[in-house]
Amino acid sequence: MSTRSTQTSSVRDRTPVREHWASRAGFIAAAIGSAVGLGNIWRFPYEAAGHGGSAFLIVDFIAILLIGLPAMLAEFAIGRRAHRNVIDAFGAGGRMWKLAGVLAAVSAFWVVSYYSVVGGWVIRYLLESPSGAYFSNPAVHFTGAASGMDAVFFTSVFMFITIGIVAFGIERGIELATKLMVPAIVVLMVALAVYAATLSGAGAGYEYFLEPDFGYILLNADTLIPAAVGEVLFTLSLGSGIMITYASYVEKSESLVADGLAVVIVNTLVGYLAGLIVFPLLFAQGVKPGEAGAGAIFVSIANAFRTLPAGEVLGVVFYLVVLIAAVSSAISLLEIPTAYFVDNFPIPRPIIAGVIGLGAFLLGVPSALDMATLELFDSVASEVLLPIGIFLVTVFVGWVYGREAMAELGEGLHERLLPRCWLWHVRIVVLVAVGMTLVISIVSFTDINVVQWLS
Ligand code: PHE
Repeated sequence: MSTRSTQTSSVRDRTPVREHWASRAGFIAAAIGSAVGLGNIWRFPYEAAGHGGSAFLIVDFIAILLIGLPAMLAEFAIGRRAHRNVIDAFGAGGRMWKLAGVLAAVSAFWVVSYYSVVGGWVIRYLLESPSGAYFSNPAVHFTGAASGMDAVFFTSVFMFITIGIVAFGIERGIELATKLMVPAIVVLMVALAVYAATLSGAGAGYEYFLEPDFGYILLNADTLIPAAVGEVLFTLSLGSGIMITYASYVEKSESLVADGLAVVIVNTLVGYLAGLIVFPLLFAQGVKPGEAGAGAIFVSIANAFRTLPAGEVLGVVFYLVVLIAAVSSAISLLEIPTAYFVDNFPIPRPIIAGVIGLGAFLLGVPSALDMATLELFDSVASEVLLPIGIFLVTVFVGWVYGREAMAELGEGLHERLLPRCWLWHVRIVVLVAVGMTLVISIVSFTDINVVQWLS
């Protein structure tokens, strides 16, 4: 008995105390910071405008509550139960399940490689706004800025900032940064939306964004629903182990349900707010909303700034918001592989974050040199890696780790029925919806990238 206890305590002595959030608000801020990103500011308003306006917002909201929130709670439950990084957390299901964790960590590494390229563009545009450098011809300017050695340089600056925050760790790095960043995003976006409302074309912009088209939804339900589910999973940062890892730093057994609700509500409101900024800005200047995609905020929006009074100031505020949103998502991505090595090897966190960040930067160089490569990286992530990741989470929680996950979700809740209903909901509704999204995504990916390449 005494030998055993000595052994245990010596093991404990050698294992450094695992980091944790200093406060519940810190965990929520970090999760919101991860969820709110380029996806909300550009992709979401366009998806809505192109798919039935305010009618789409209703479908989207239902998808968030029925699929996004339960799936996020699944990641939270796995993470807080394990108090470990994503690879070891999946390891609770056996050796084969560790591979699911490896896939998630690889996905995060993959995404941060090209996310940083876009982050680099944002830094450049922020620096160029005071002089209006991109005003004379936004489309040509963007083509020059997007790919090449300049883009590689700005990618490295963005990655450097990301590594810097992750190196400081959970409490002093990610928590502190996101507690400042998330309120800043909301305040600046409200200010931009108020400004946008004063523009003369604002009404037409709102109409474009919000005009309800229920007919569209009824006629296109078969493609629209999987598209909405896919968008919800992406915008909530699910499928790459982020919410698993972040929840693993939660010490106390408070209600994960309330935390999850806070994250999805703020994330959704930020998307709505983005629509209320982007469309009035474009319509006020008679700029046609261009095609969706990462490049578009650098062309159509930049074009609107060119013609607006004090466009330079607007440019600074707008790109600052985008930069903060992008950094707070990138740190969550870099943290996933970092957490695995911090948990398992006695190497200082700054070195681990630096080496992994450098590796991701090198993987991102081809995307910084060629836009088509960046788009391919994005398709592989959003249509293959992340859908597979979230599908595995759903199977794991639904059919392998169900009891443990249910018990974890019940912590801090006075309600006994809710965790049970949630588990059955994950087992059936979420699993079917996520499975359908996975099949449709992979079919579309193969169609676009493989079939066309072969023919
Ligand atoms: N949720 C982020 C956004 O909306 C994107 C993201 C996806 C970040 C997956 C991390 C992982 O921009």
